[in-house]
Amino acid sequence: MPEHHRLSQTLSWPHLVALGVGAIVGTGILTLTGVGAAKAGPAVILSFAIAGVICACAALAYAEMATMYPASGSAYTYSYIVFGELVAWVIGWSLMLEYSLVVSAVAVGWSGYASGFLNSIGLGLPTALIQGPELGGVINLPAIFIIAAVAGLLIYGTRESATLNAILVVVKLLALALFITVCLPVFDAGNFEPFMPYGFPRSGPPGAEVGVMAAAAIIFFAFYGFDAIATAAEEAKNPERDLAIGIVGSMVVCVLIYMAVAAAAIGALAYTHFANSPEPLALILREIGQGWAAKILGVSAVIALPTVILAFFYGQSRIFFVMARDGLLPAKLARVSSRGTPVRITLFTAVIVAMIAGIFPLAEIAALANAGTLAAFVAVCAAMLTMRRRAPDAPRKFTTPLPWLIGTAGILGCAYLFWSLPVKTQTYFLIWNAIGLVVYSVYGSPRAERARANA
Ligand code: ALA
Repeated sequence: MPEHHRLSQTLSWPHLVALGVGAIVGTGILTLTGVGAAKAGPAVILSFAIAGVICACAALAYAEMATMYPASGSAYTYSYIVFGELVAWVIGWSLMLEYSLVVSAVAVGWSGYASGFLNSIGLGLPTALIQGPELGGVINLPAIFIIAAVAGLLIYGTRESATLNAILVVVKLLALALFITVCLPVFDAGNFEPFMPYGFPRSGPPGAEVGVMAAAAIIFFAFYGFDAIATAAEEAKNPERDLAIGIVGSMVVCVLIYMAVAAAAIGALAYTHFANSPEPLALILREIGQGWAAKILGVSAVIALPTVILAFFYGQSRIFFVMARDGLLPAKLARVSSRGTPVRITLFTAVIVAMIAGIFPLAEIAALANAGTLAAFVAVCAAMLTMRRRAPDAPRKFTTPLPWLIGTAGILGCAYLFWSLPVKTQTYFLIWNAIGLVVYSVYGSPRAERARANA
């Protein structure tokens, strides 16, 4: 980090919790609730709790590594330091999948709410232009539009502003609070019967996987994005205490909010009516006769979701940047313009993520993003445990409580979630990494060697 970016220590734990919640709440709760309900029935509430607890374990390990090595590049950098170049390559390659696909997924989620809102005011687009071929449309134009808009902002040189972020956190939370409040009067406990219609472990044929864990593996998407807190470590007044509270606190807050929203949704309308909807929460509000609230929720989603896209888009360019610095990717791609933004990477990423968002359904994109994230989280937990053995006395600004328990639970939990993903996703993930290893052996490894020799 350049000298002029040395930061003053002004943040305490409430700021960090707000920062975390702001970065985490997005398409996961707004849209994947419908996908999760289709897979788990009312027990999707349990899926939220399981995914949240596993993510919290990884988040603690992440905080320890992030404060030990506050360089950019996140899990890629920790893997490079702890396990060496090859593992770092695999993790960097997985992170590319995560960051790019989160952008696509949130754009598709945005499109669902934007299209629903336009429809409700009589300006709806034809179905063929709001979803890809797998769902009977041709292309998802609004998703492509929002990616182009955010890419334009990034190239222009926009960073997330803390004030704007704080306002949008409030917008998102108020919208969810409104949803719960409006749903409560029509709460019907009968909608929770049977609670677990599809059982607990992943089951069902490939392409139609169901069960509480199958839902948790997709809904896991709703919990990540807390990197923002670890990145703010240098600005924390008391990092040791505040980071722990910030990370665990925002996880607890998100788990509680998500469970409350999911319970309110199922209580208001039998889950079969909103399963797999592109805008389940707005649909529920309309179905219970509260169209005005659906409009407010839609507008809030349309305004607030682009910050999630912006954060991950920006994160993606940082990963590319660090990998190019290590010689693993073409340096030209990471070149920064006079405005301080990596224009080529941004354009390159924008074209790819826009194509994915234009064509594929949300659940598939989110599942693959999760696969990449789960791989990175396993690496971070393993890196934390390895460093505890290798350098037990090295200074740490933040230490994970009960490290062996939390670290092992993080690794096993992420592995179980990975196993619970759709078979198709697991296959795509393995193919992606096989391609990555070929690229590494013919391109990355020789170049990295040359880069080291010239250093
Ligand atoms: N947690 C983020 C979301 O749900 C990625 O949109």
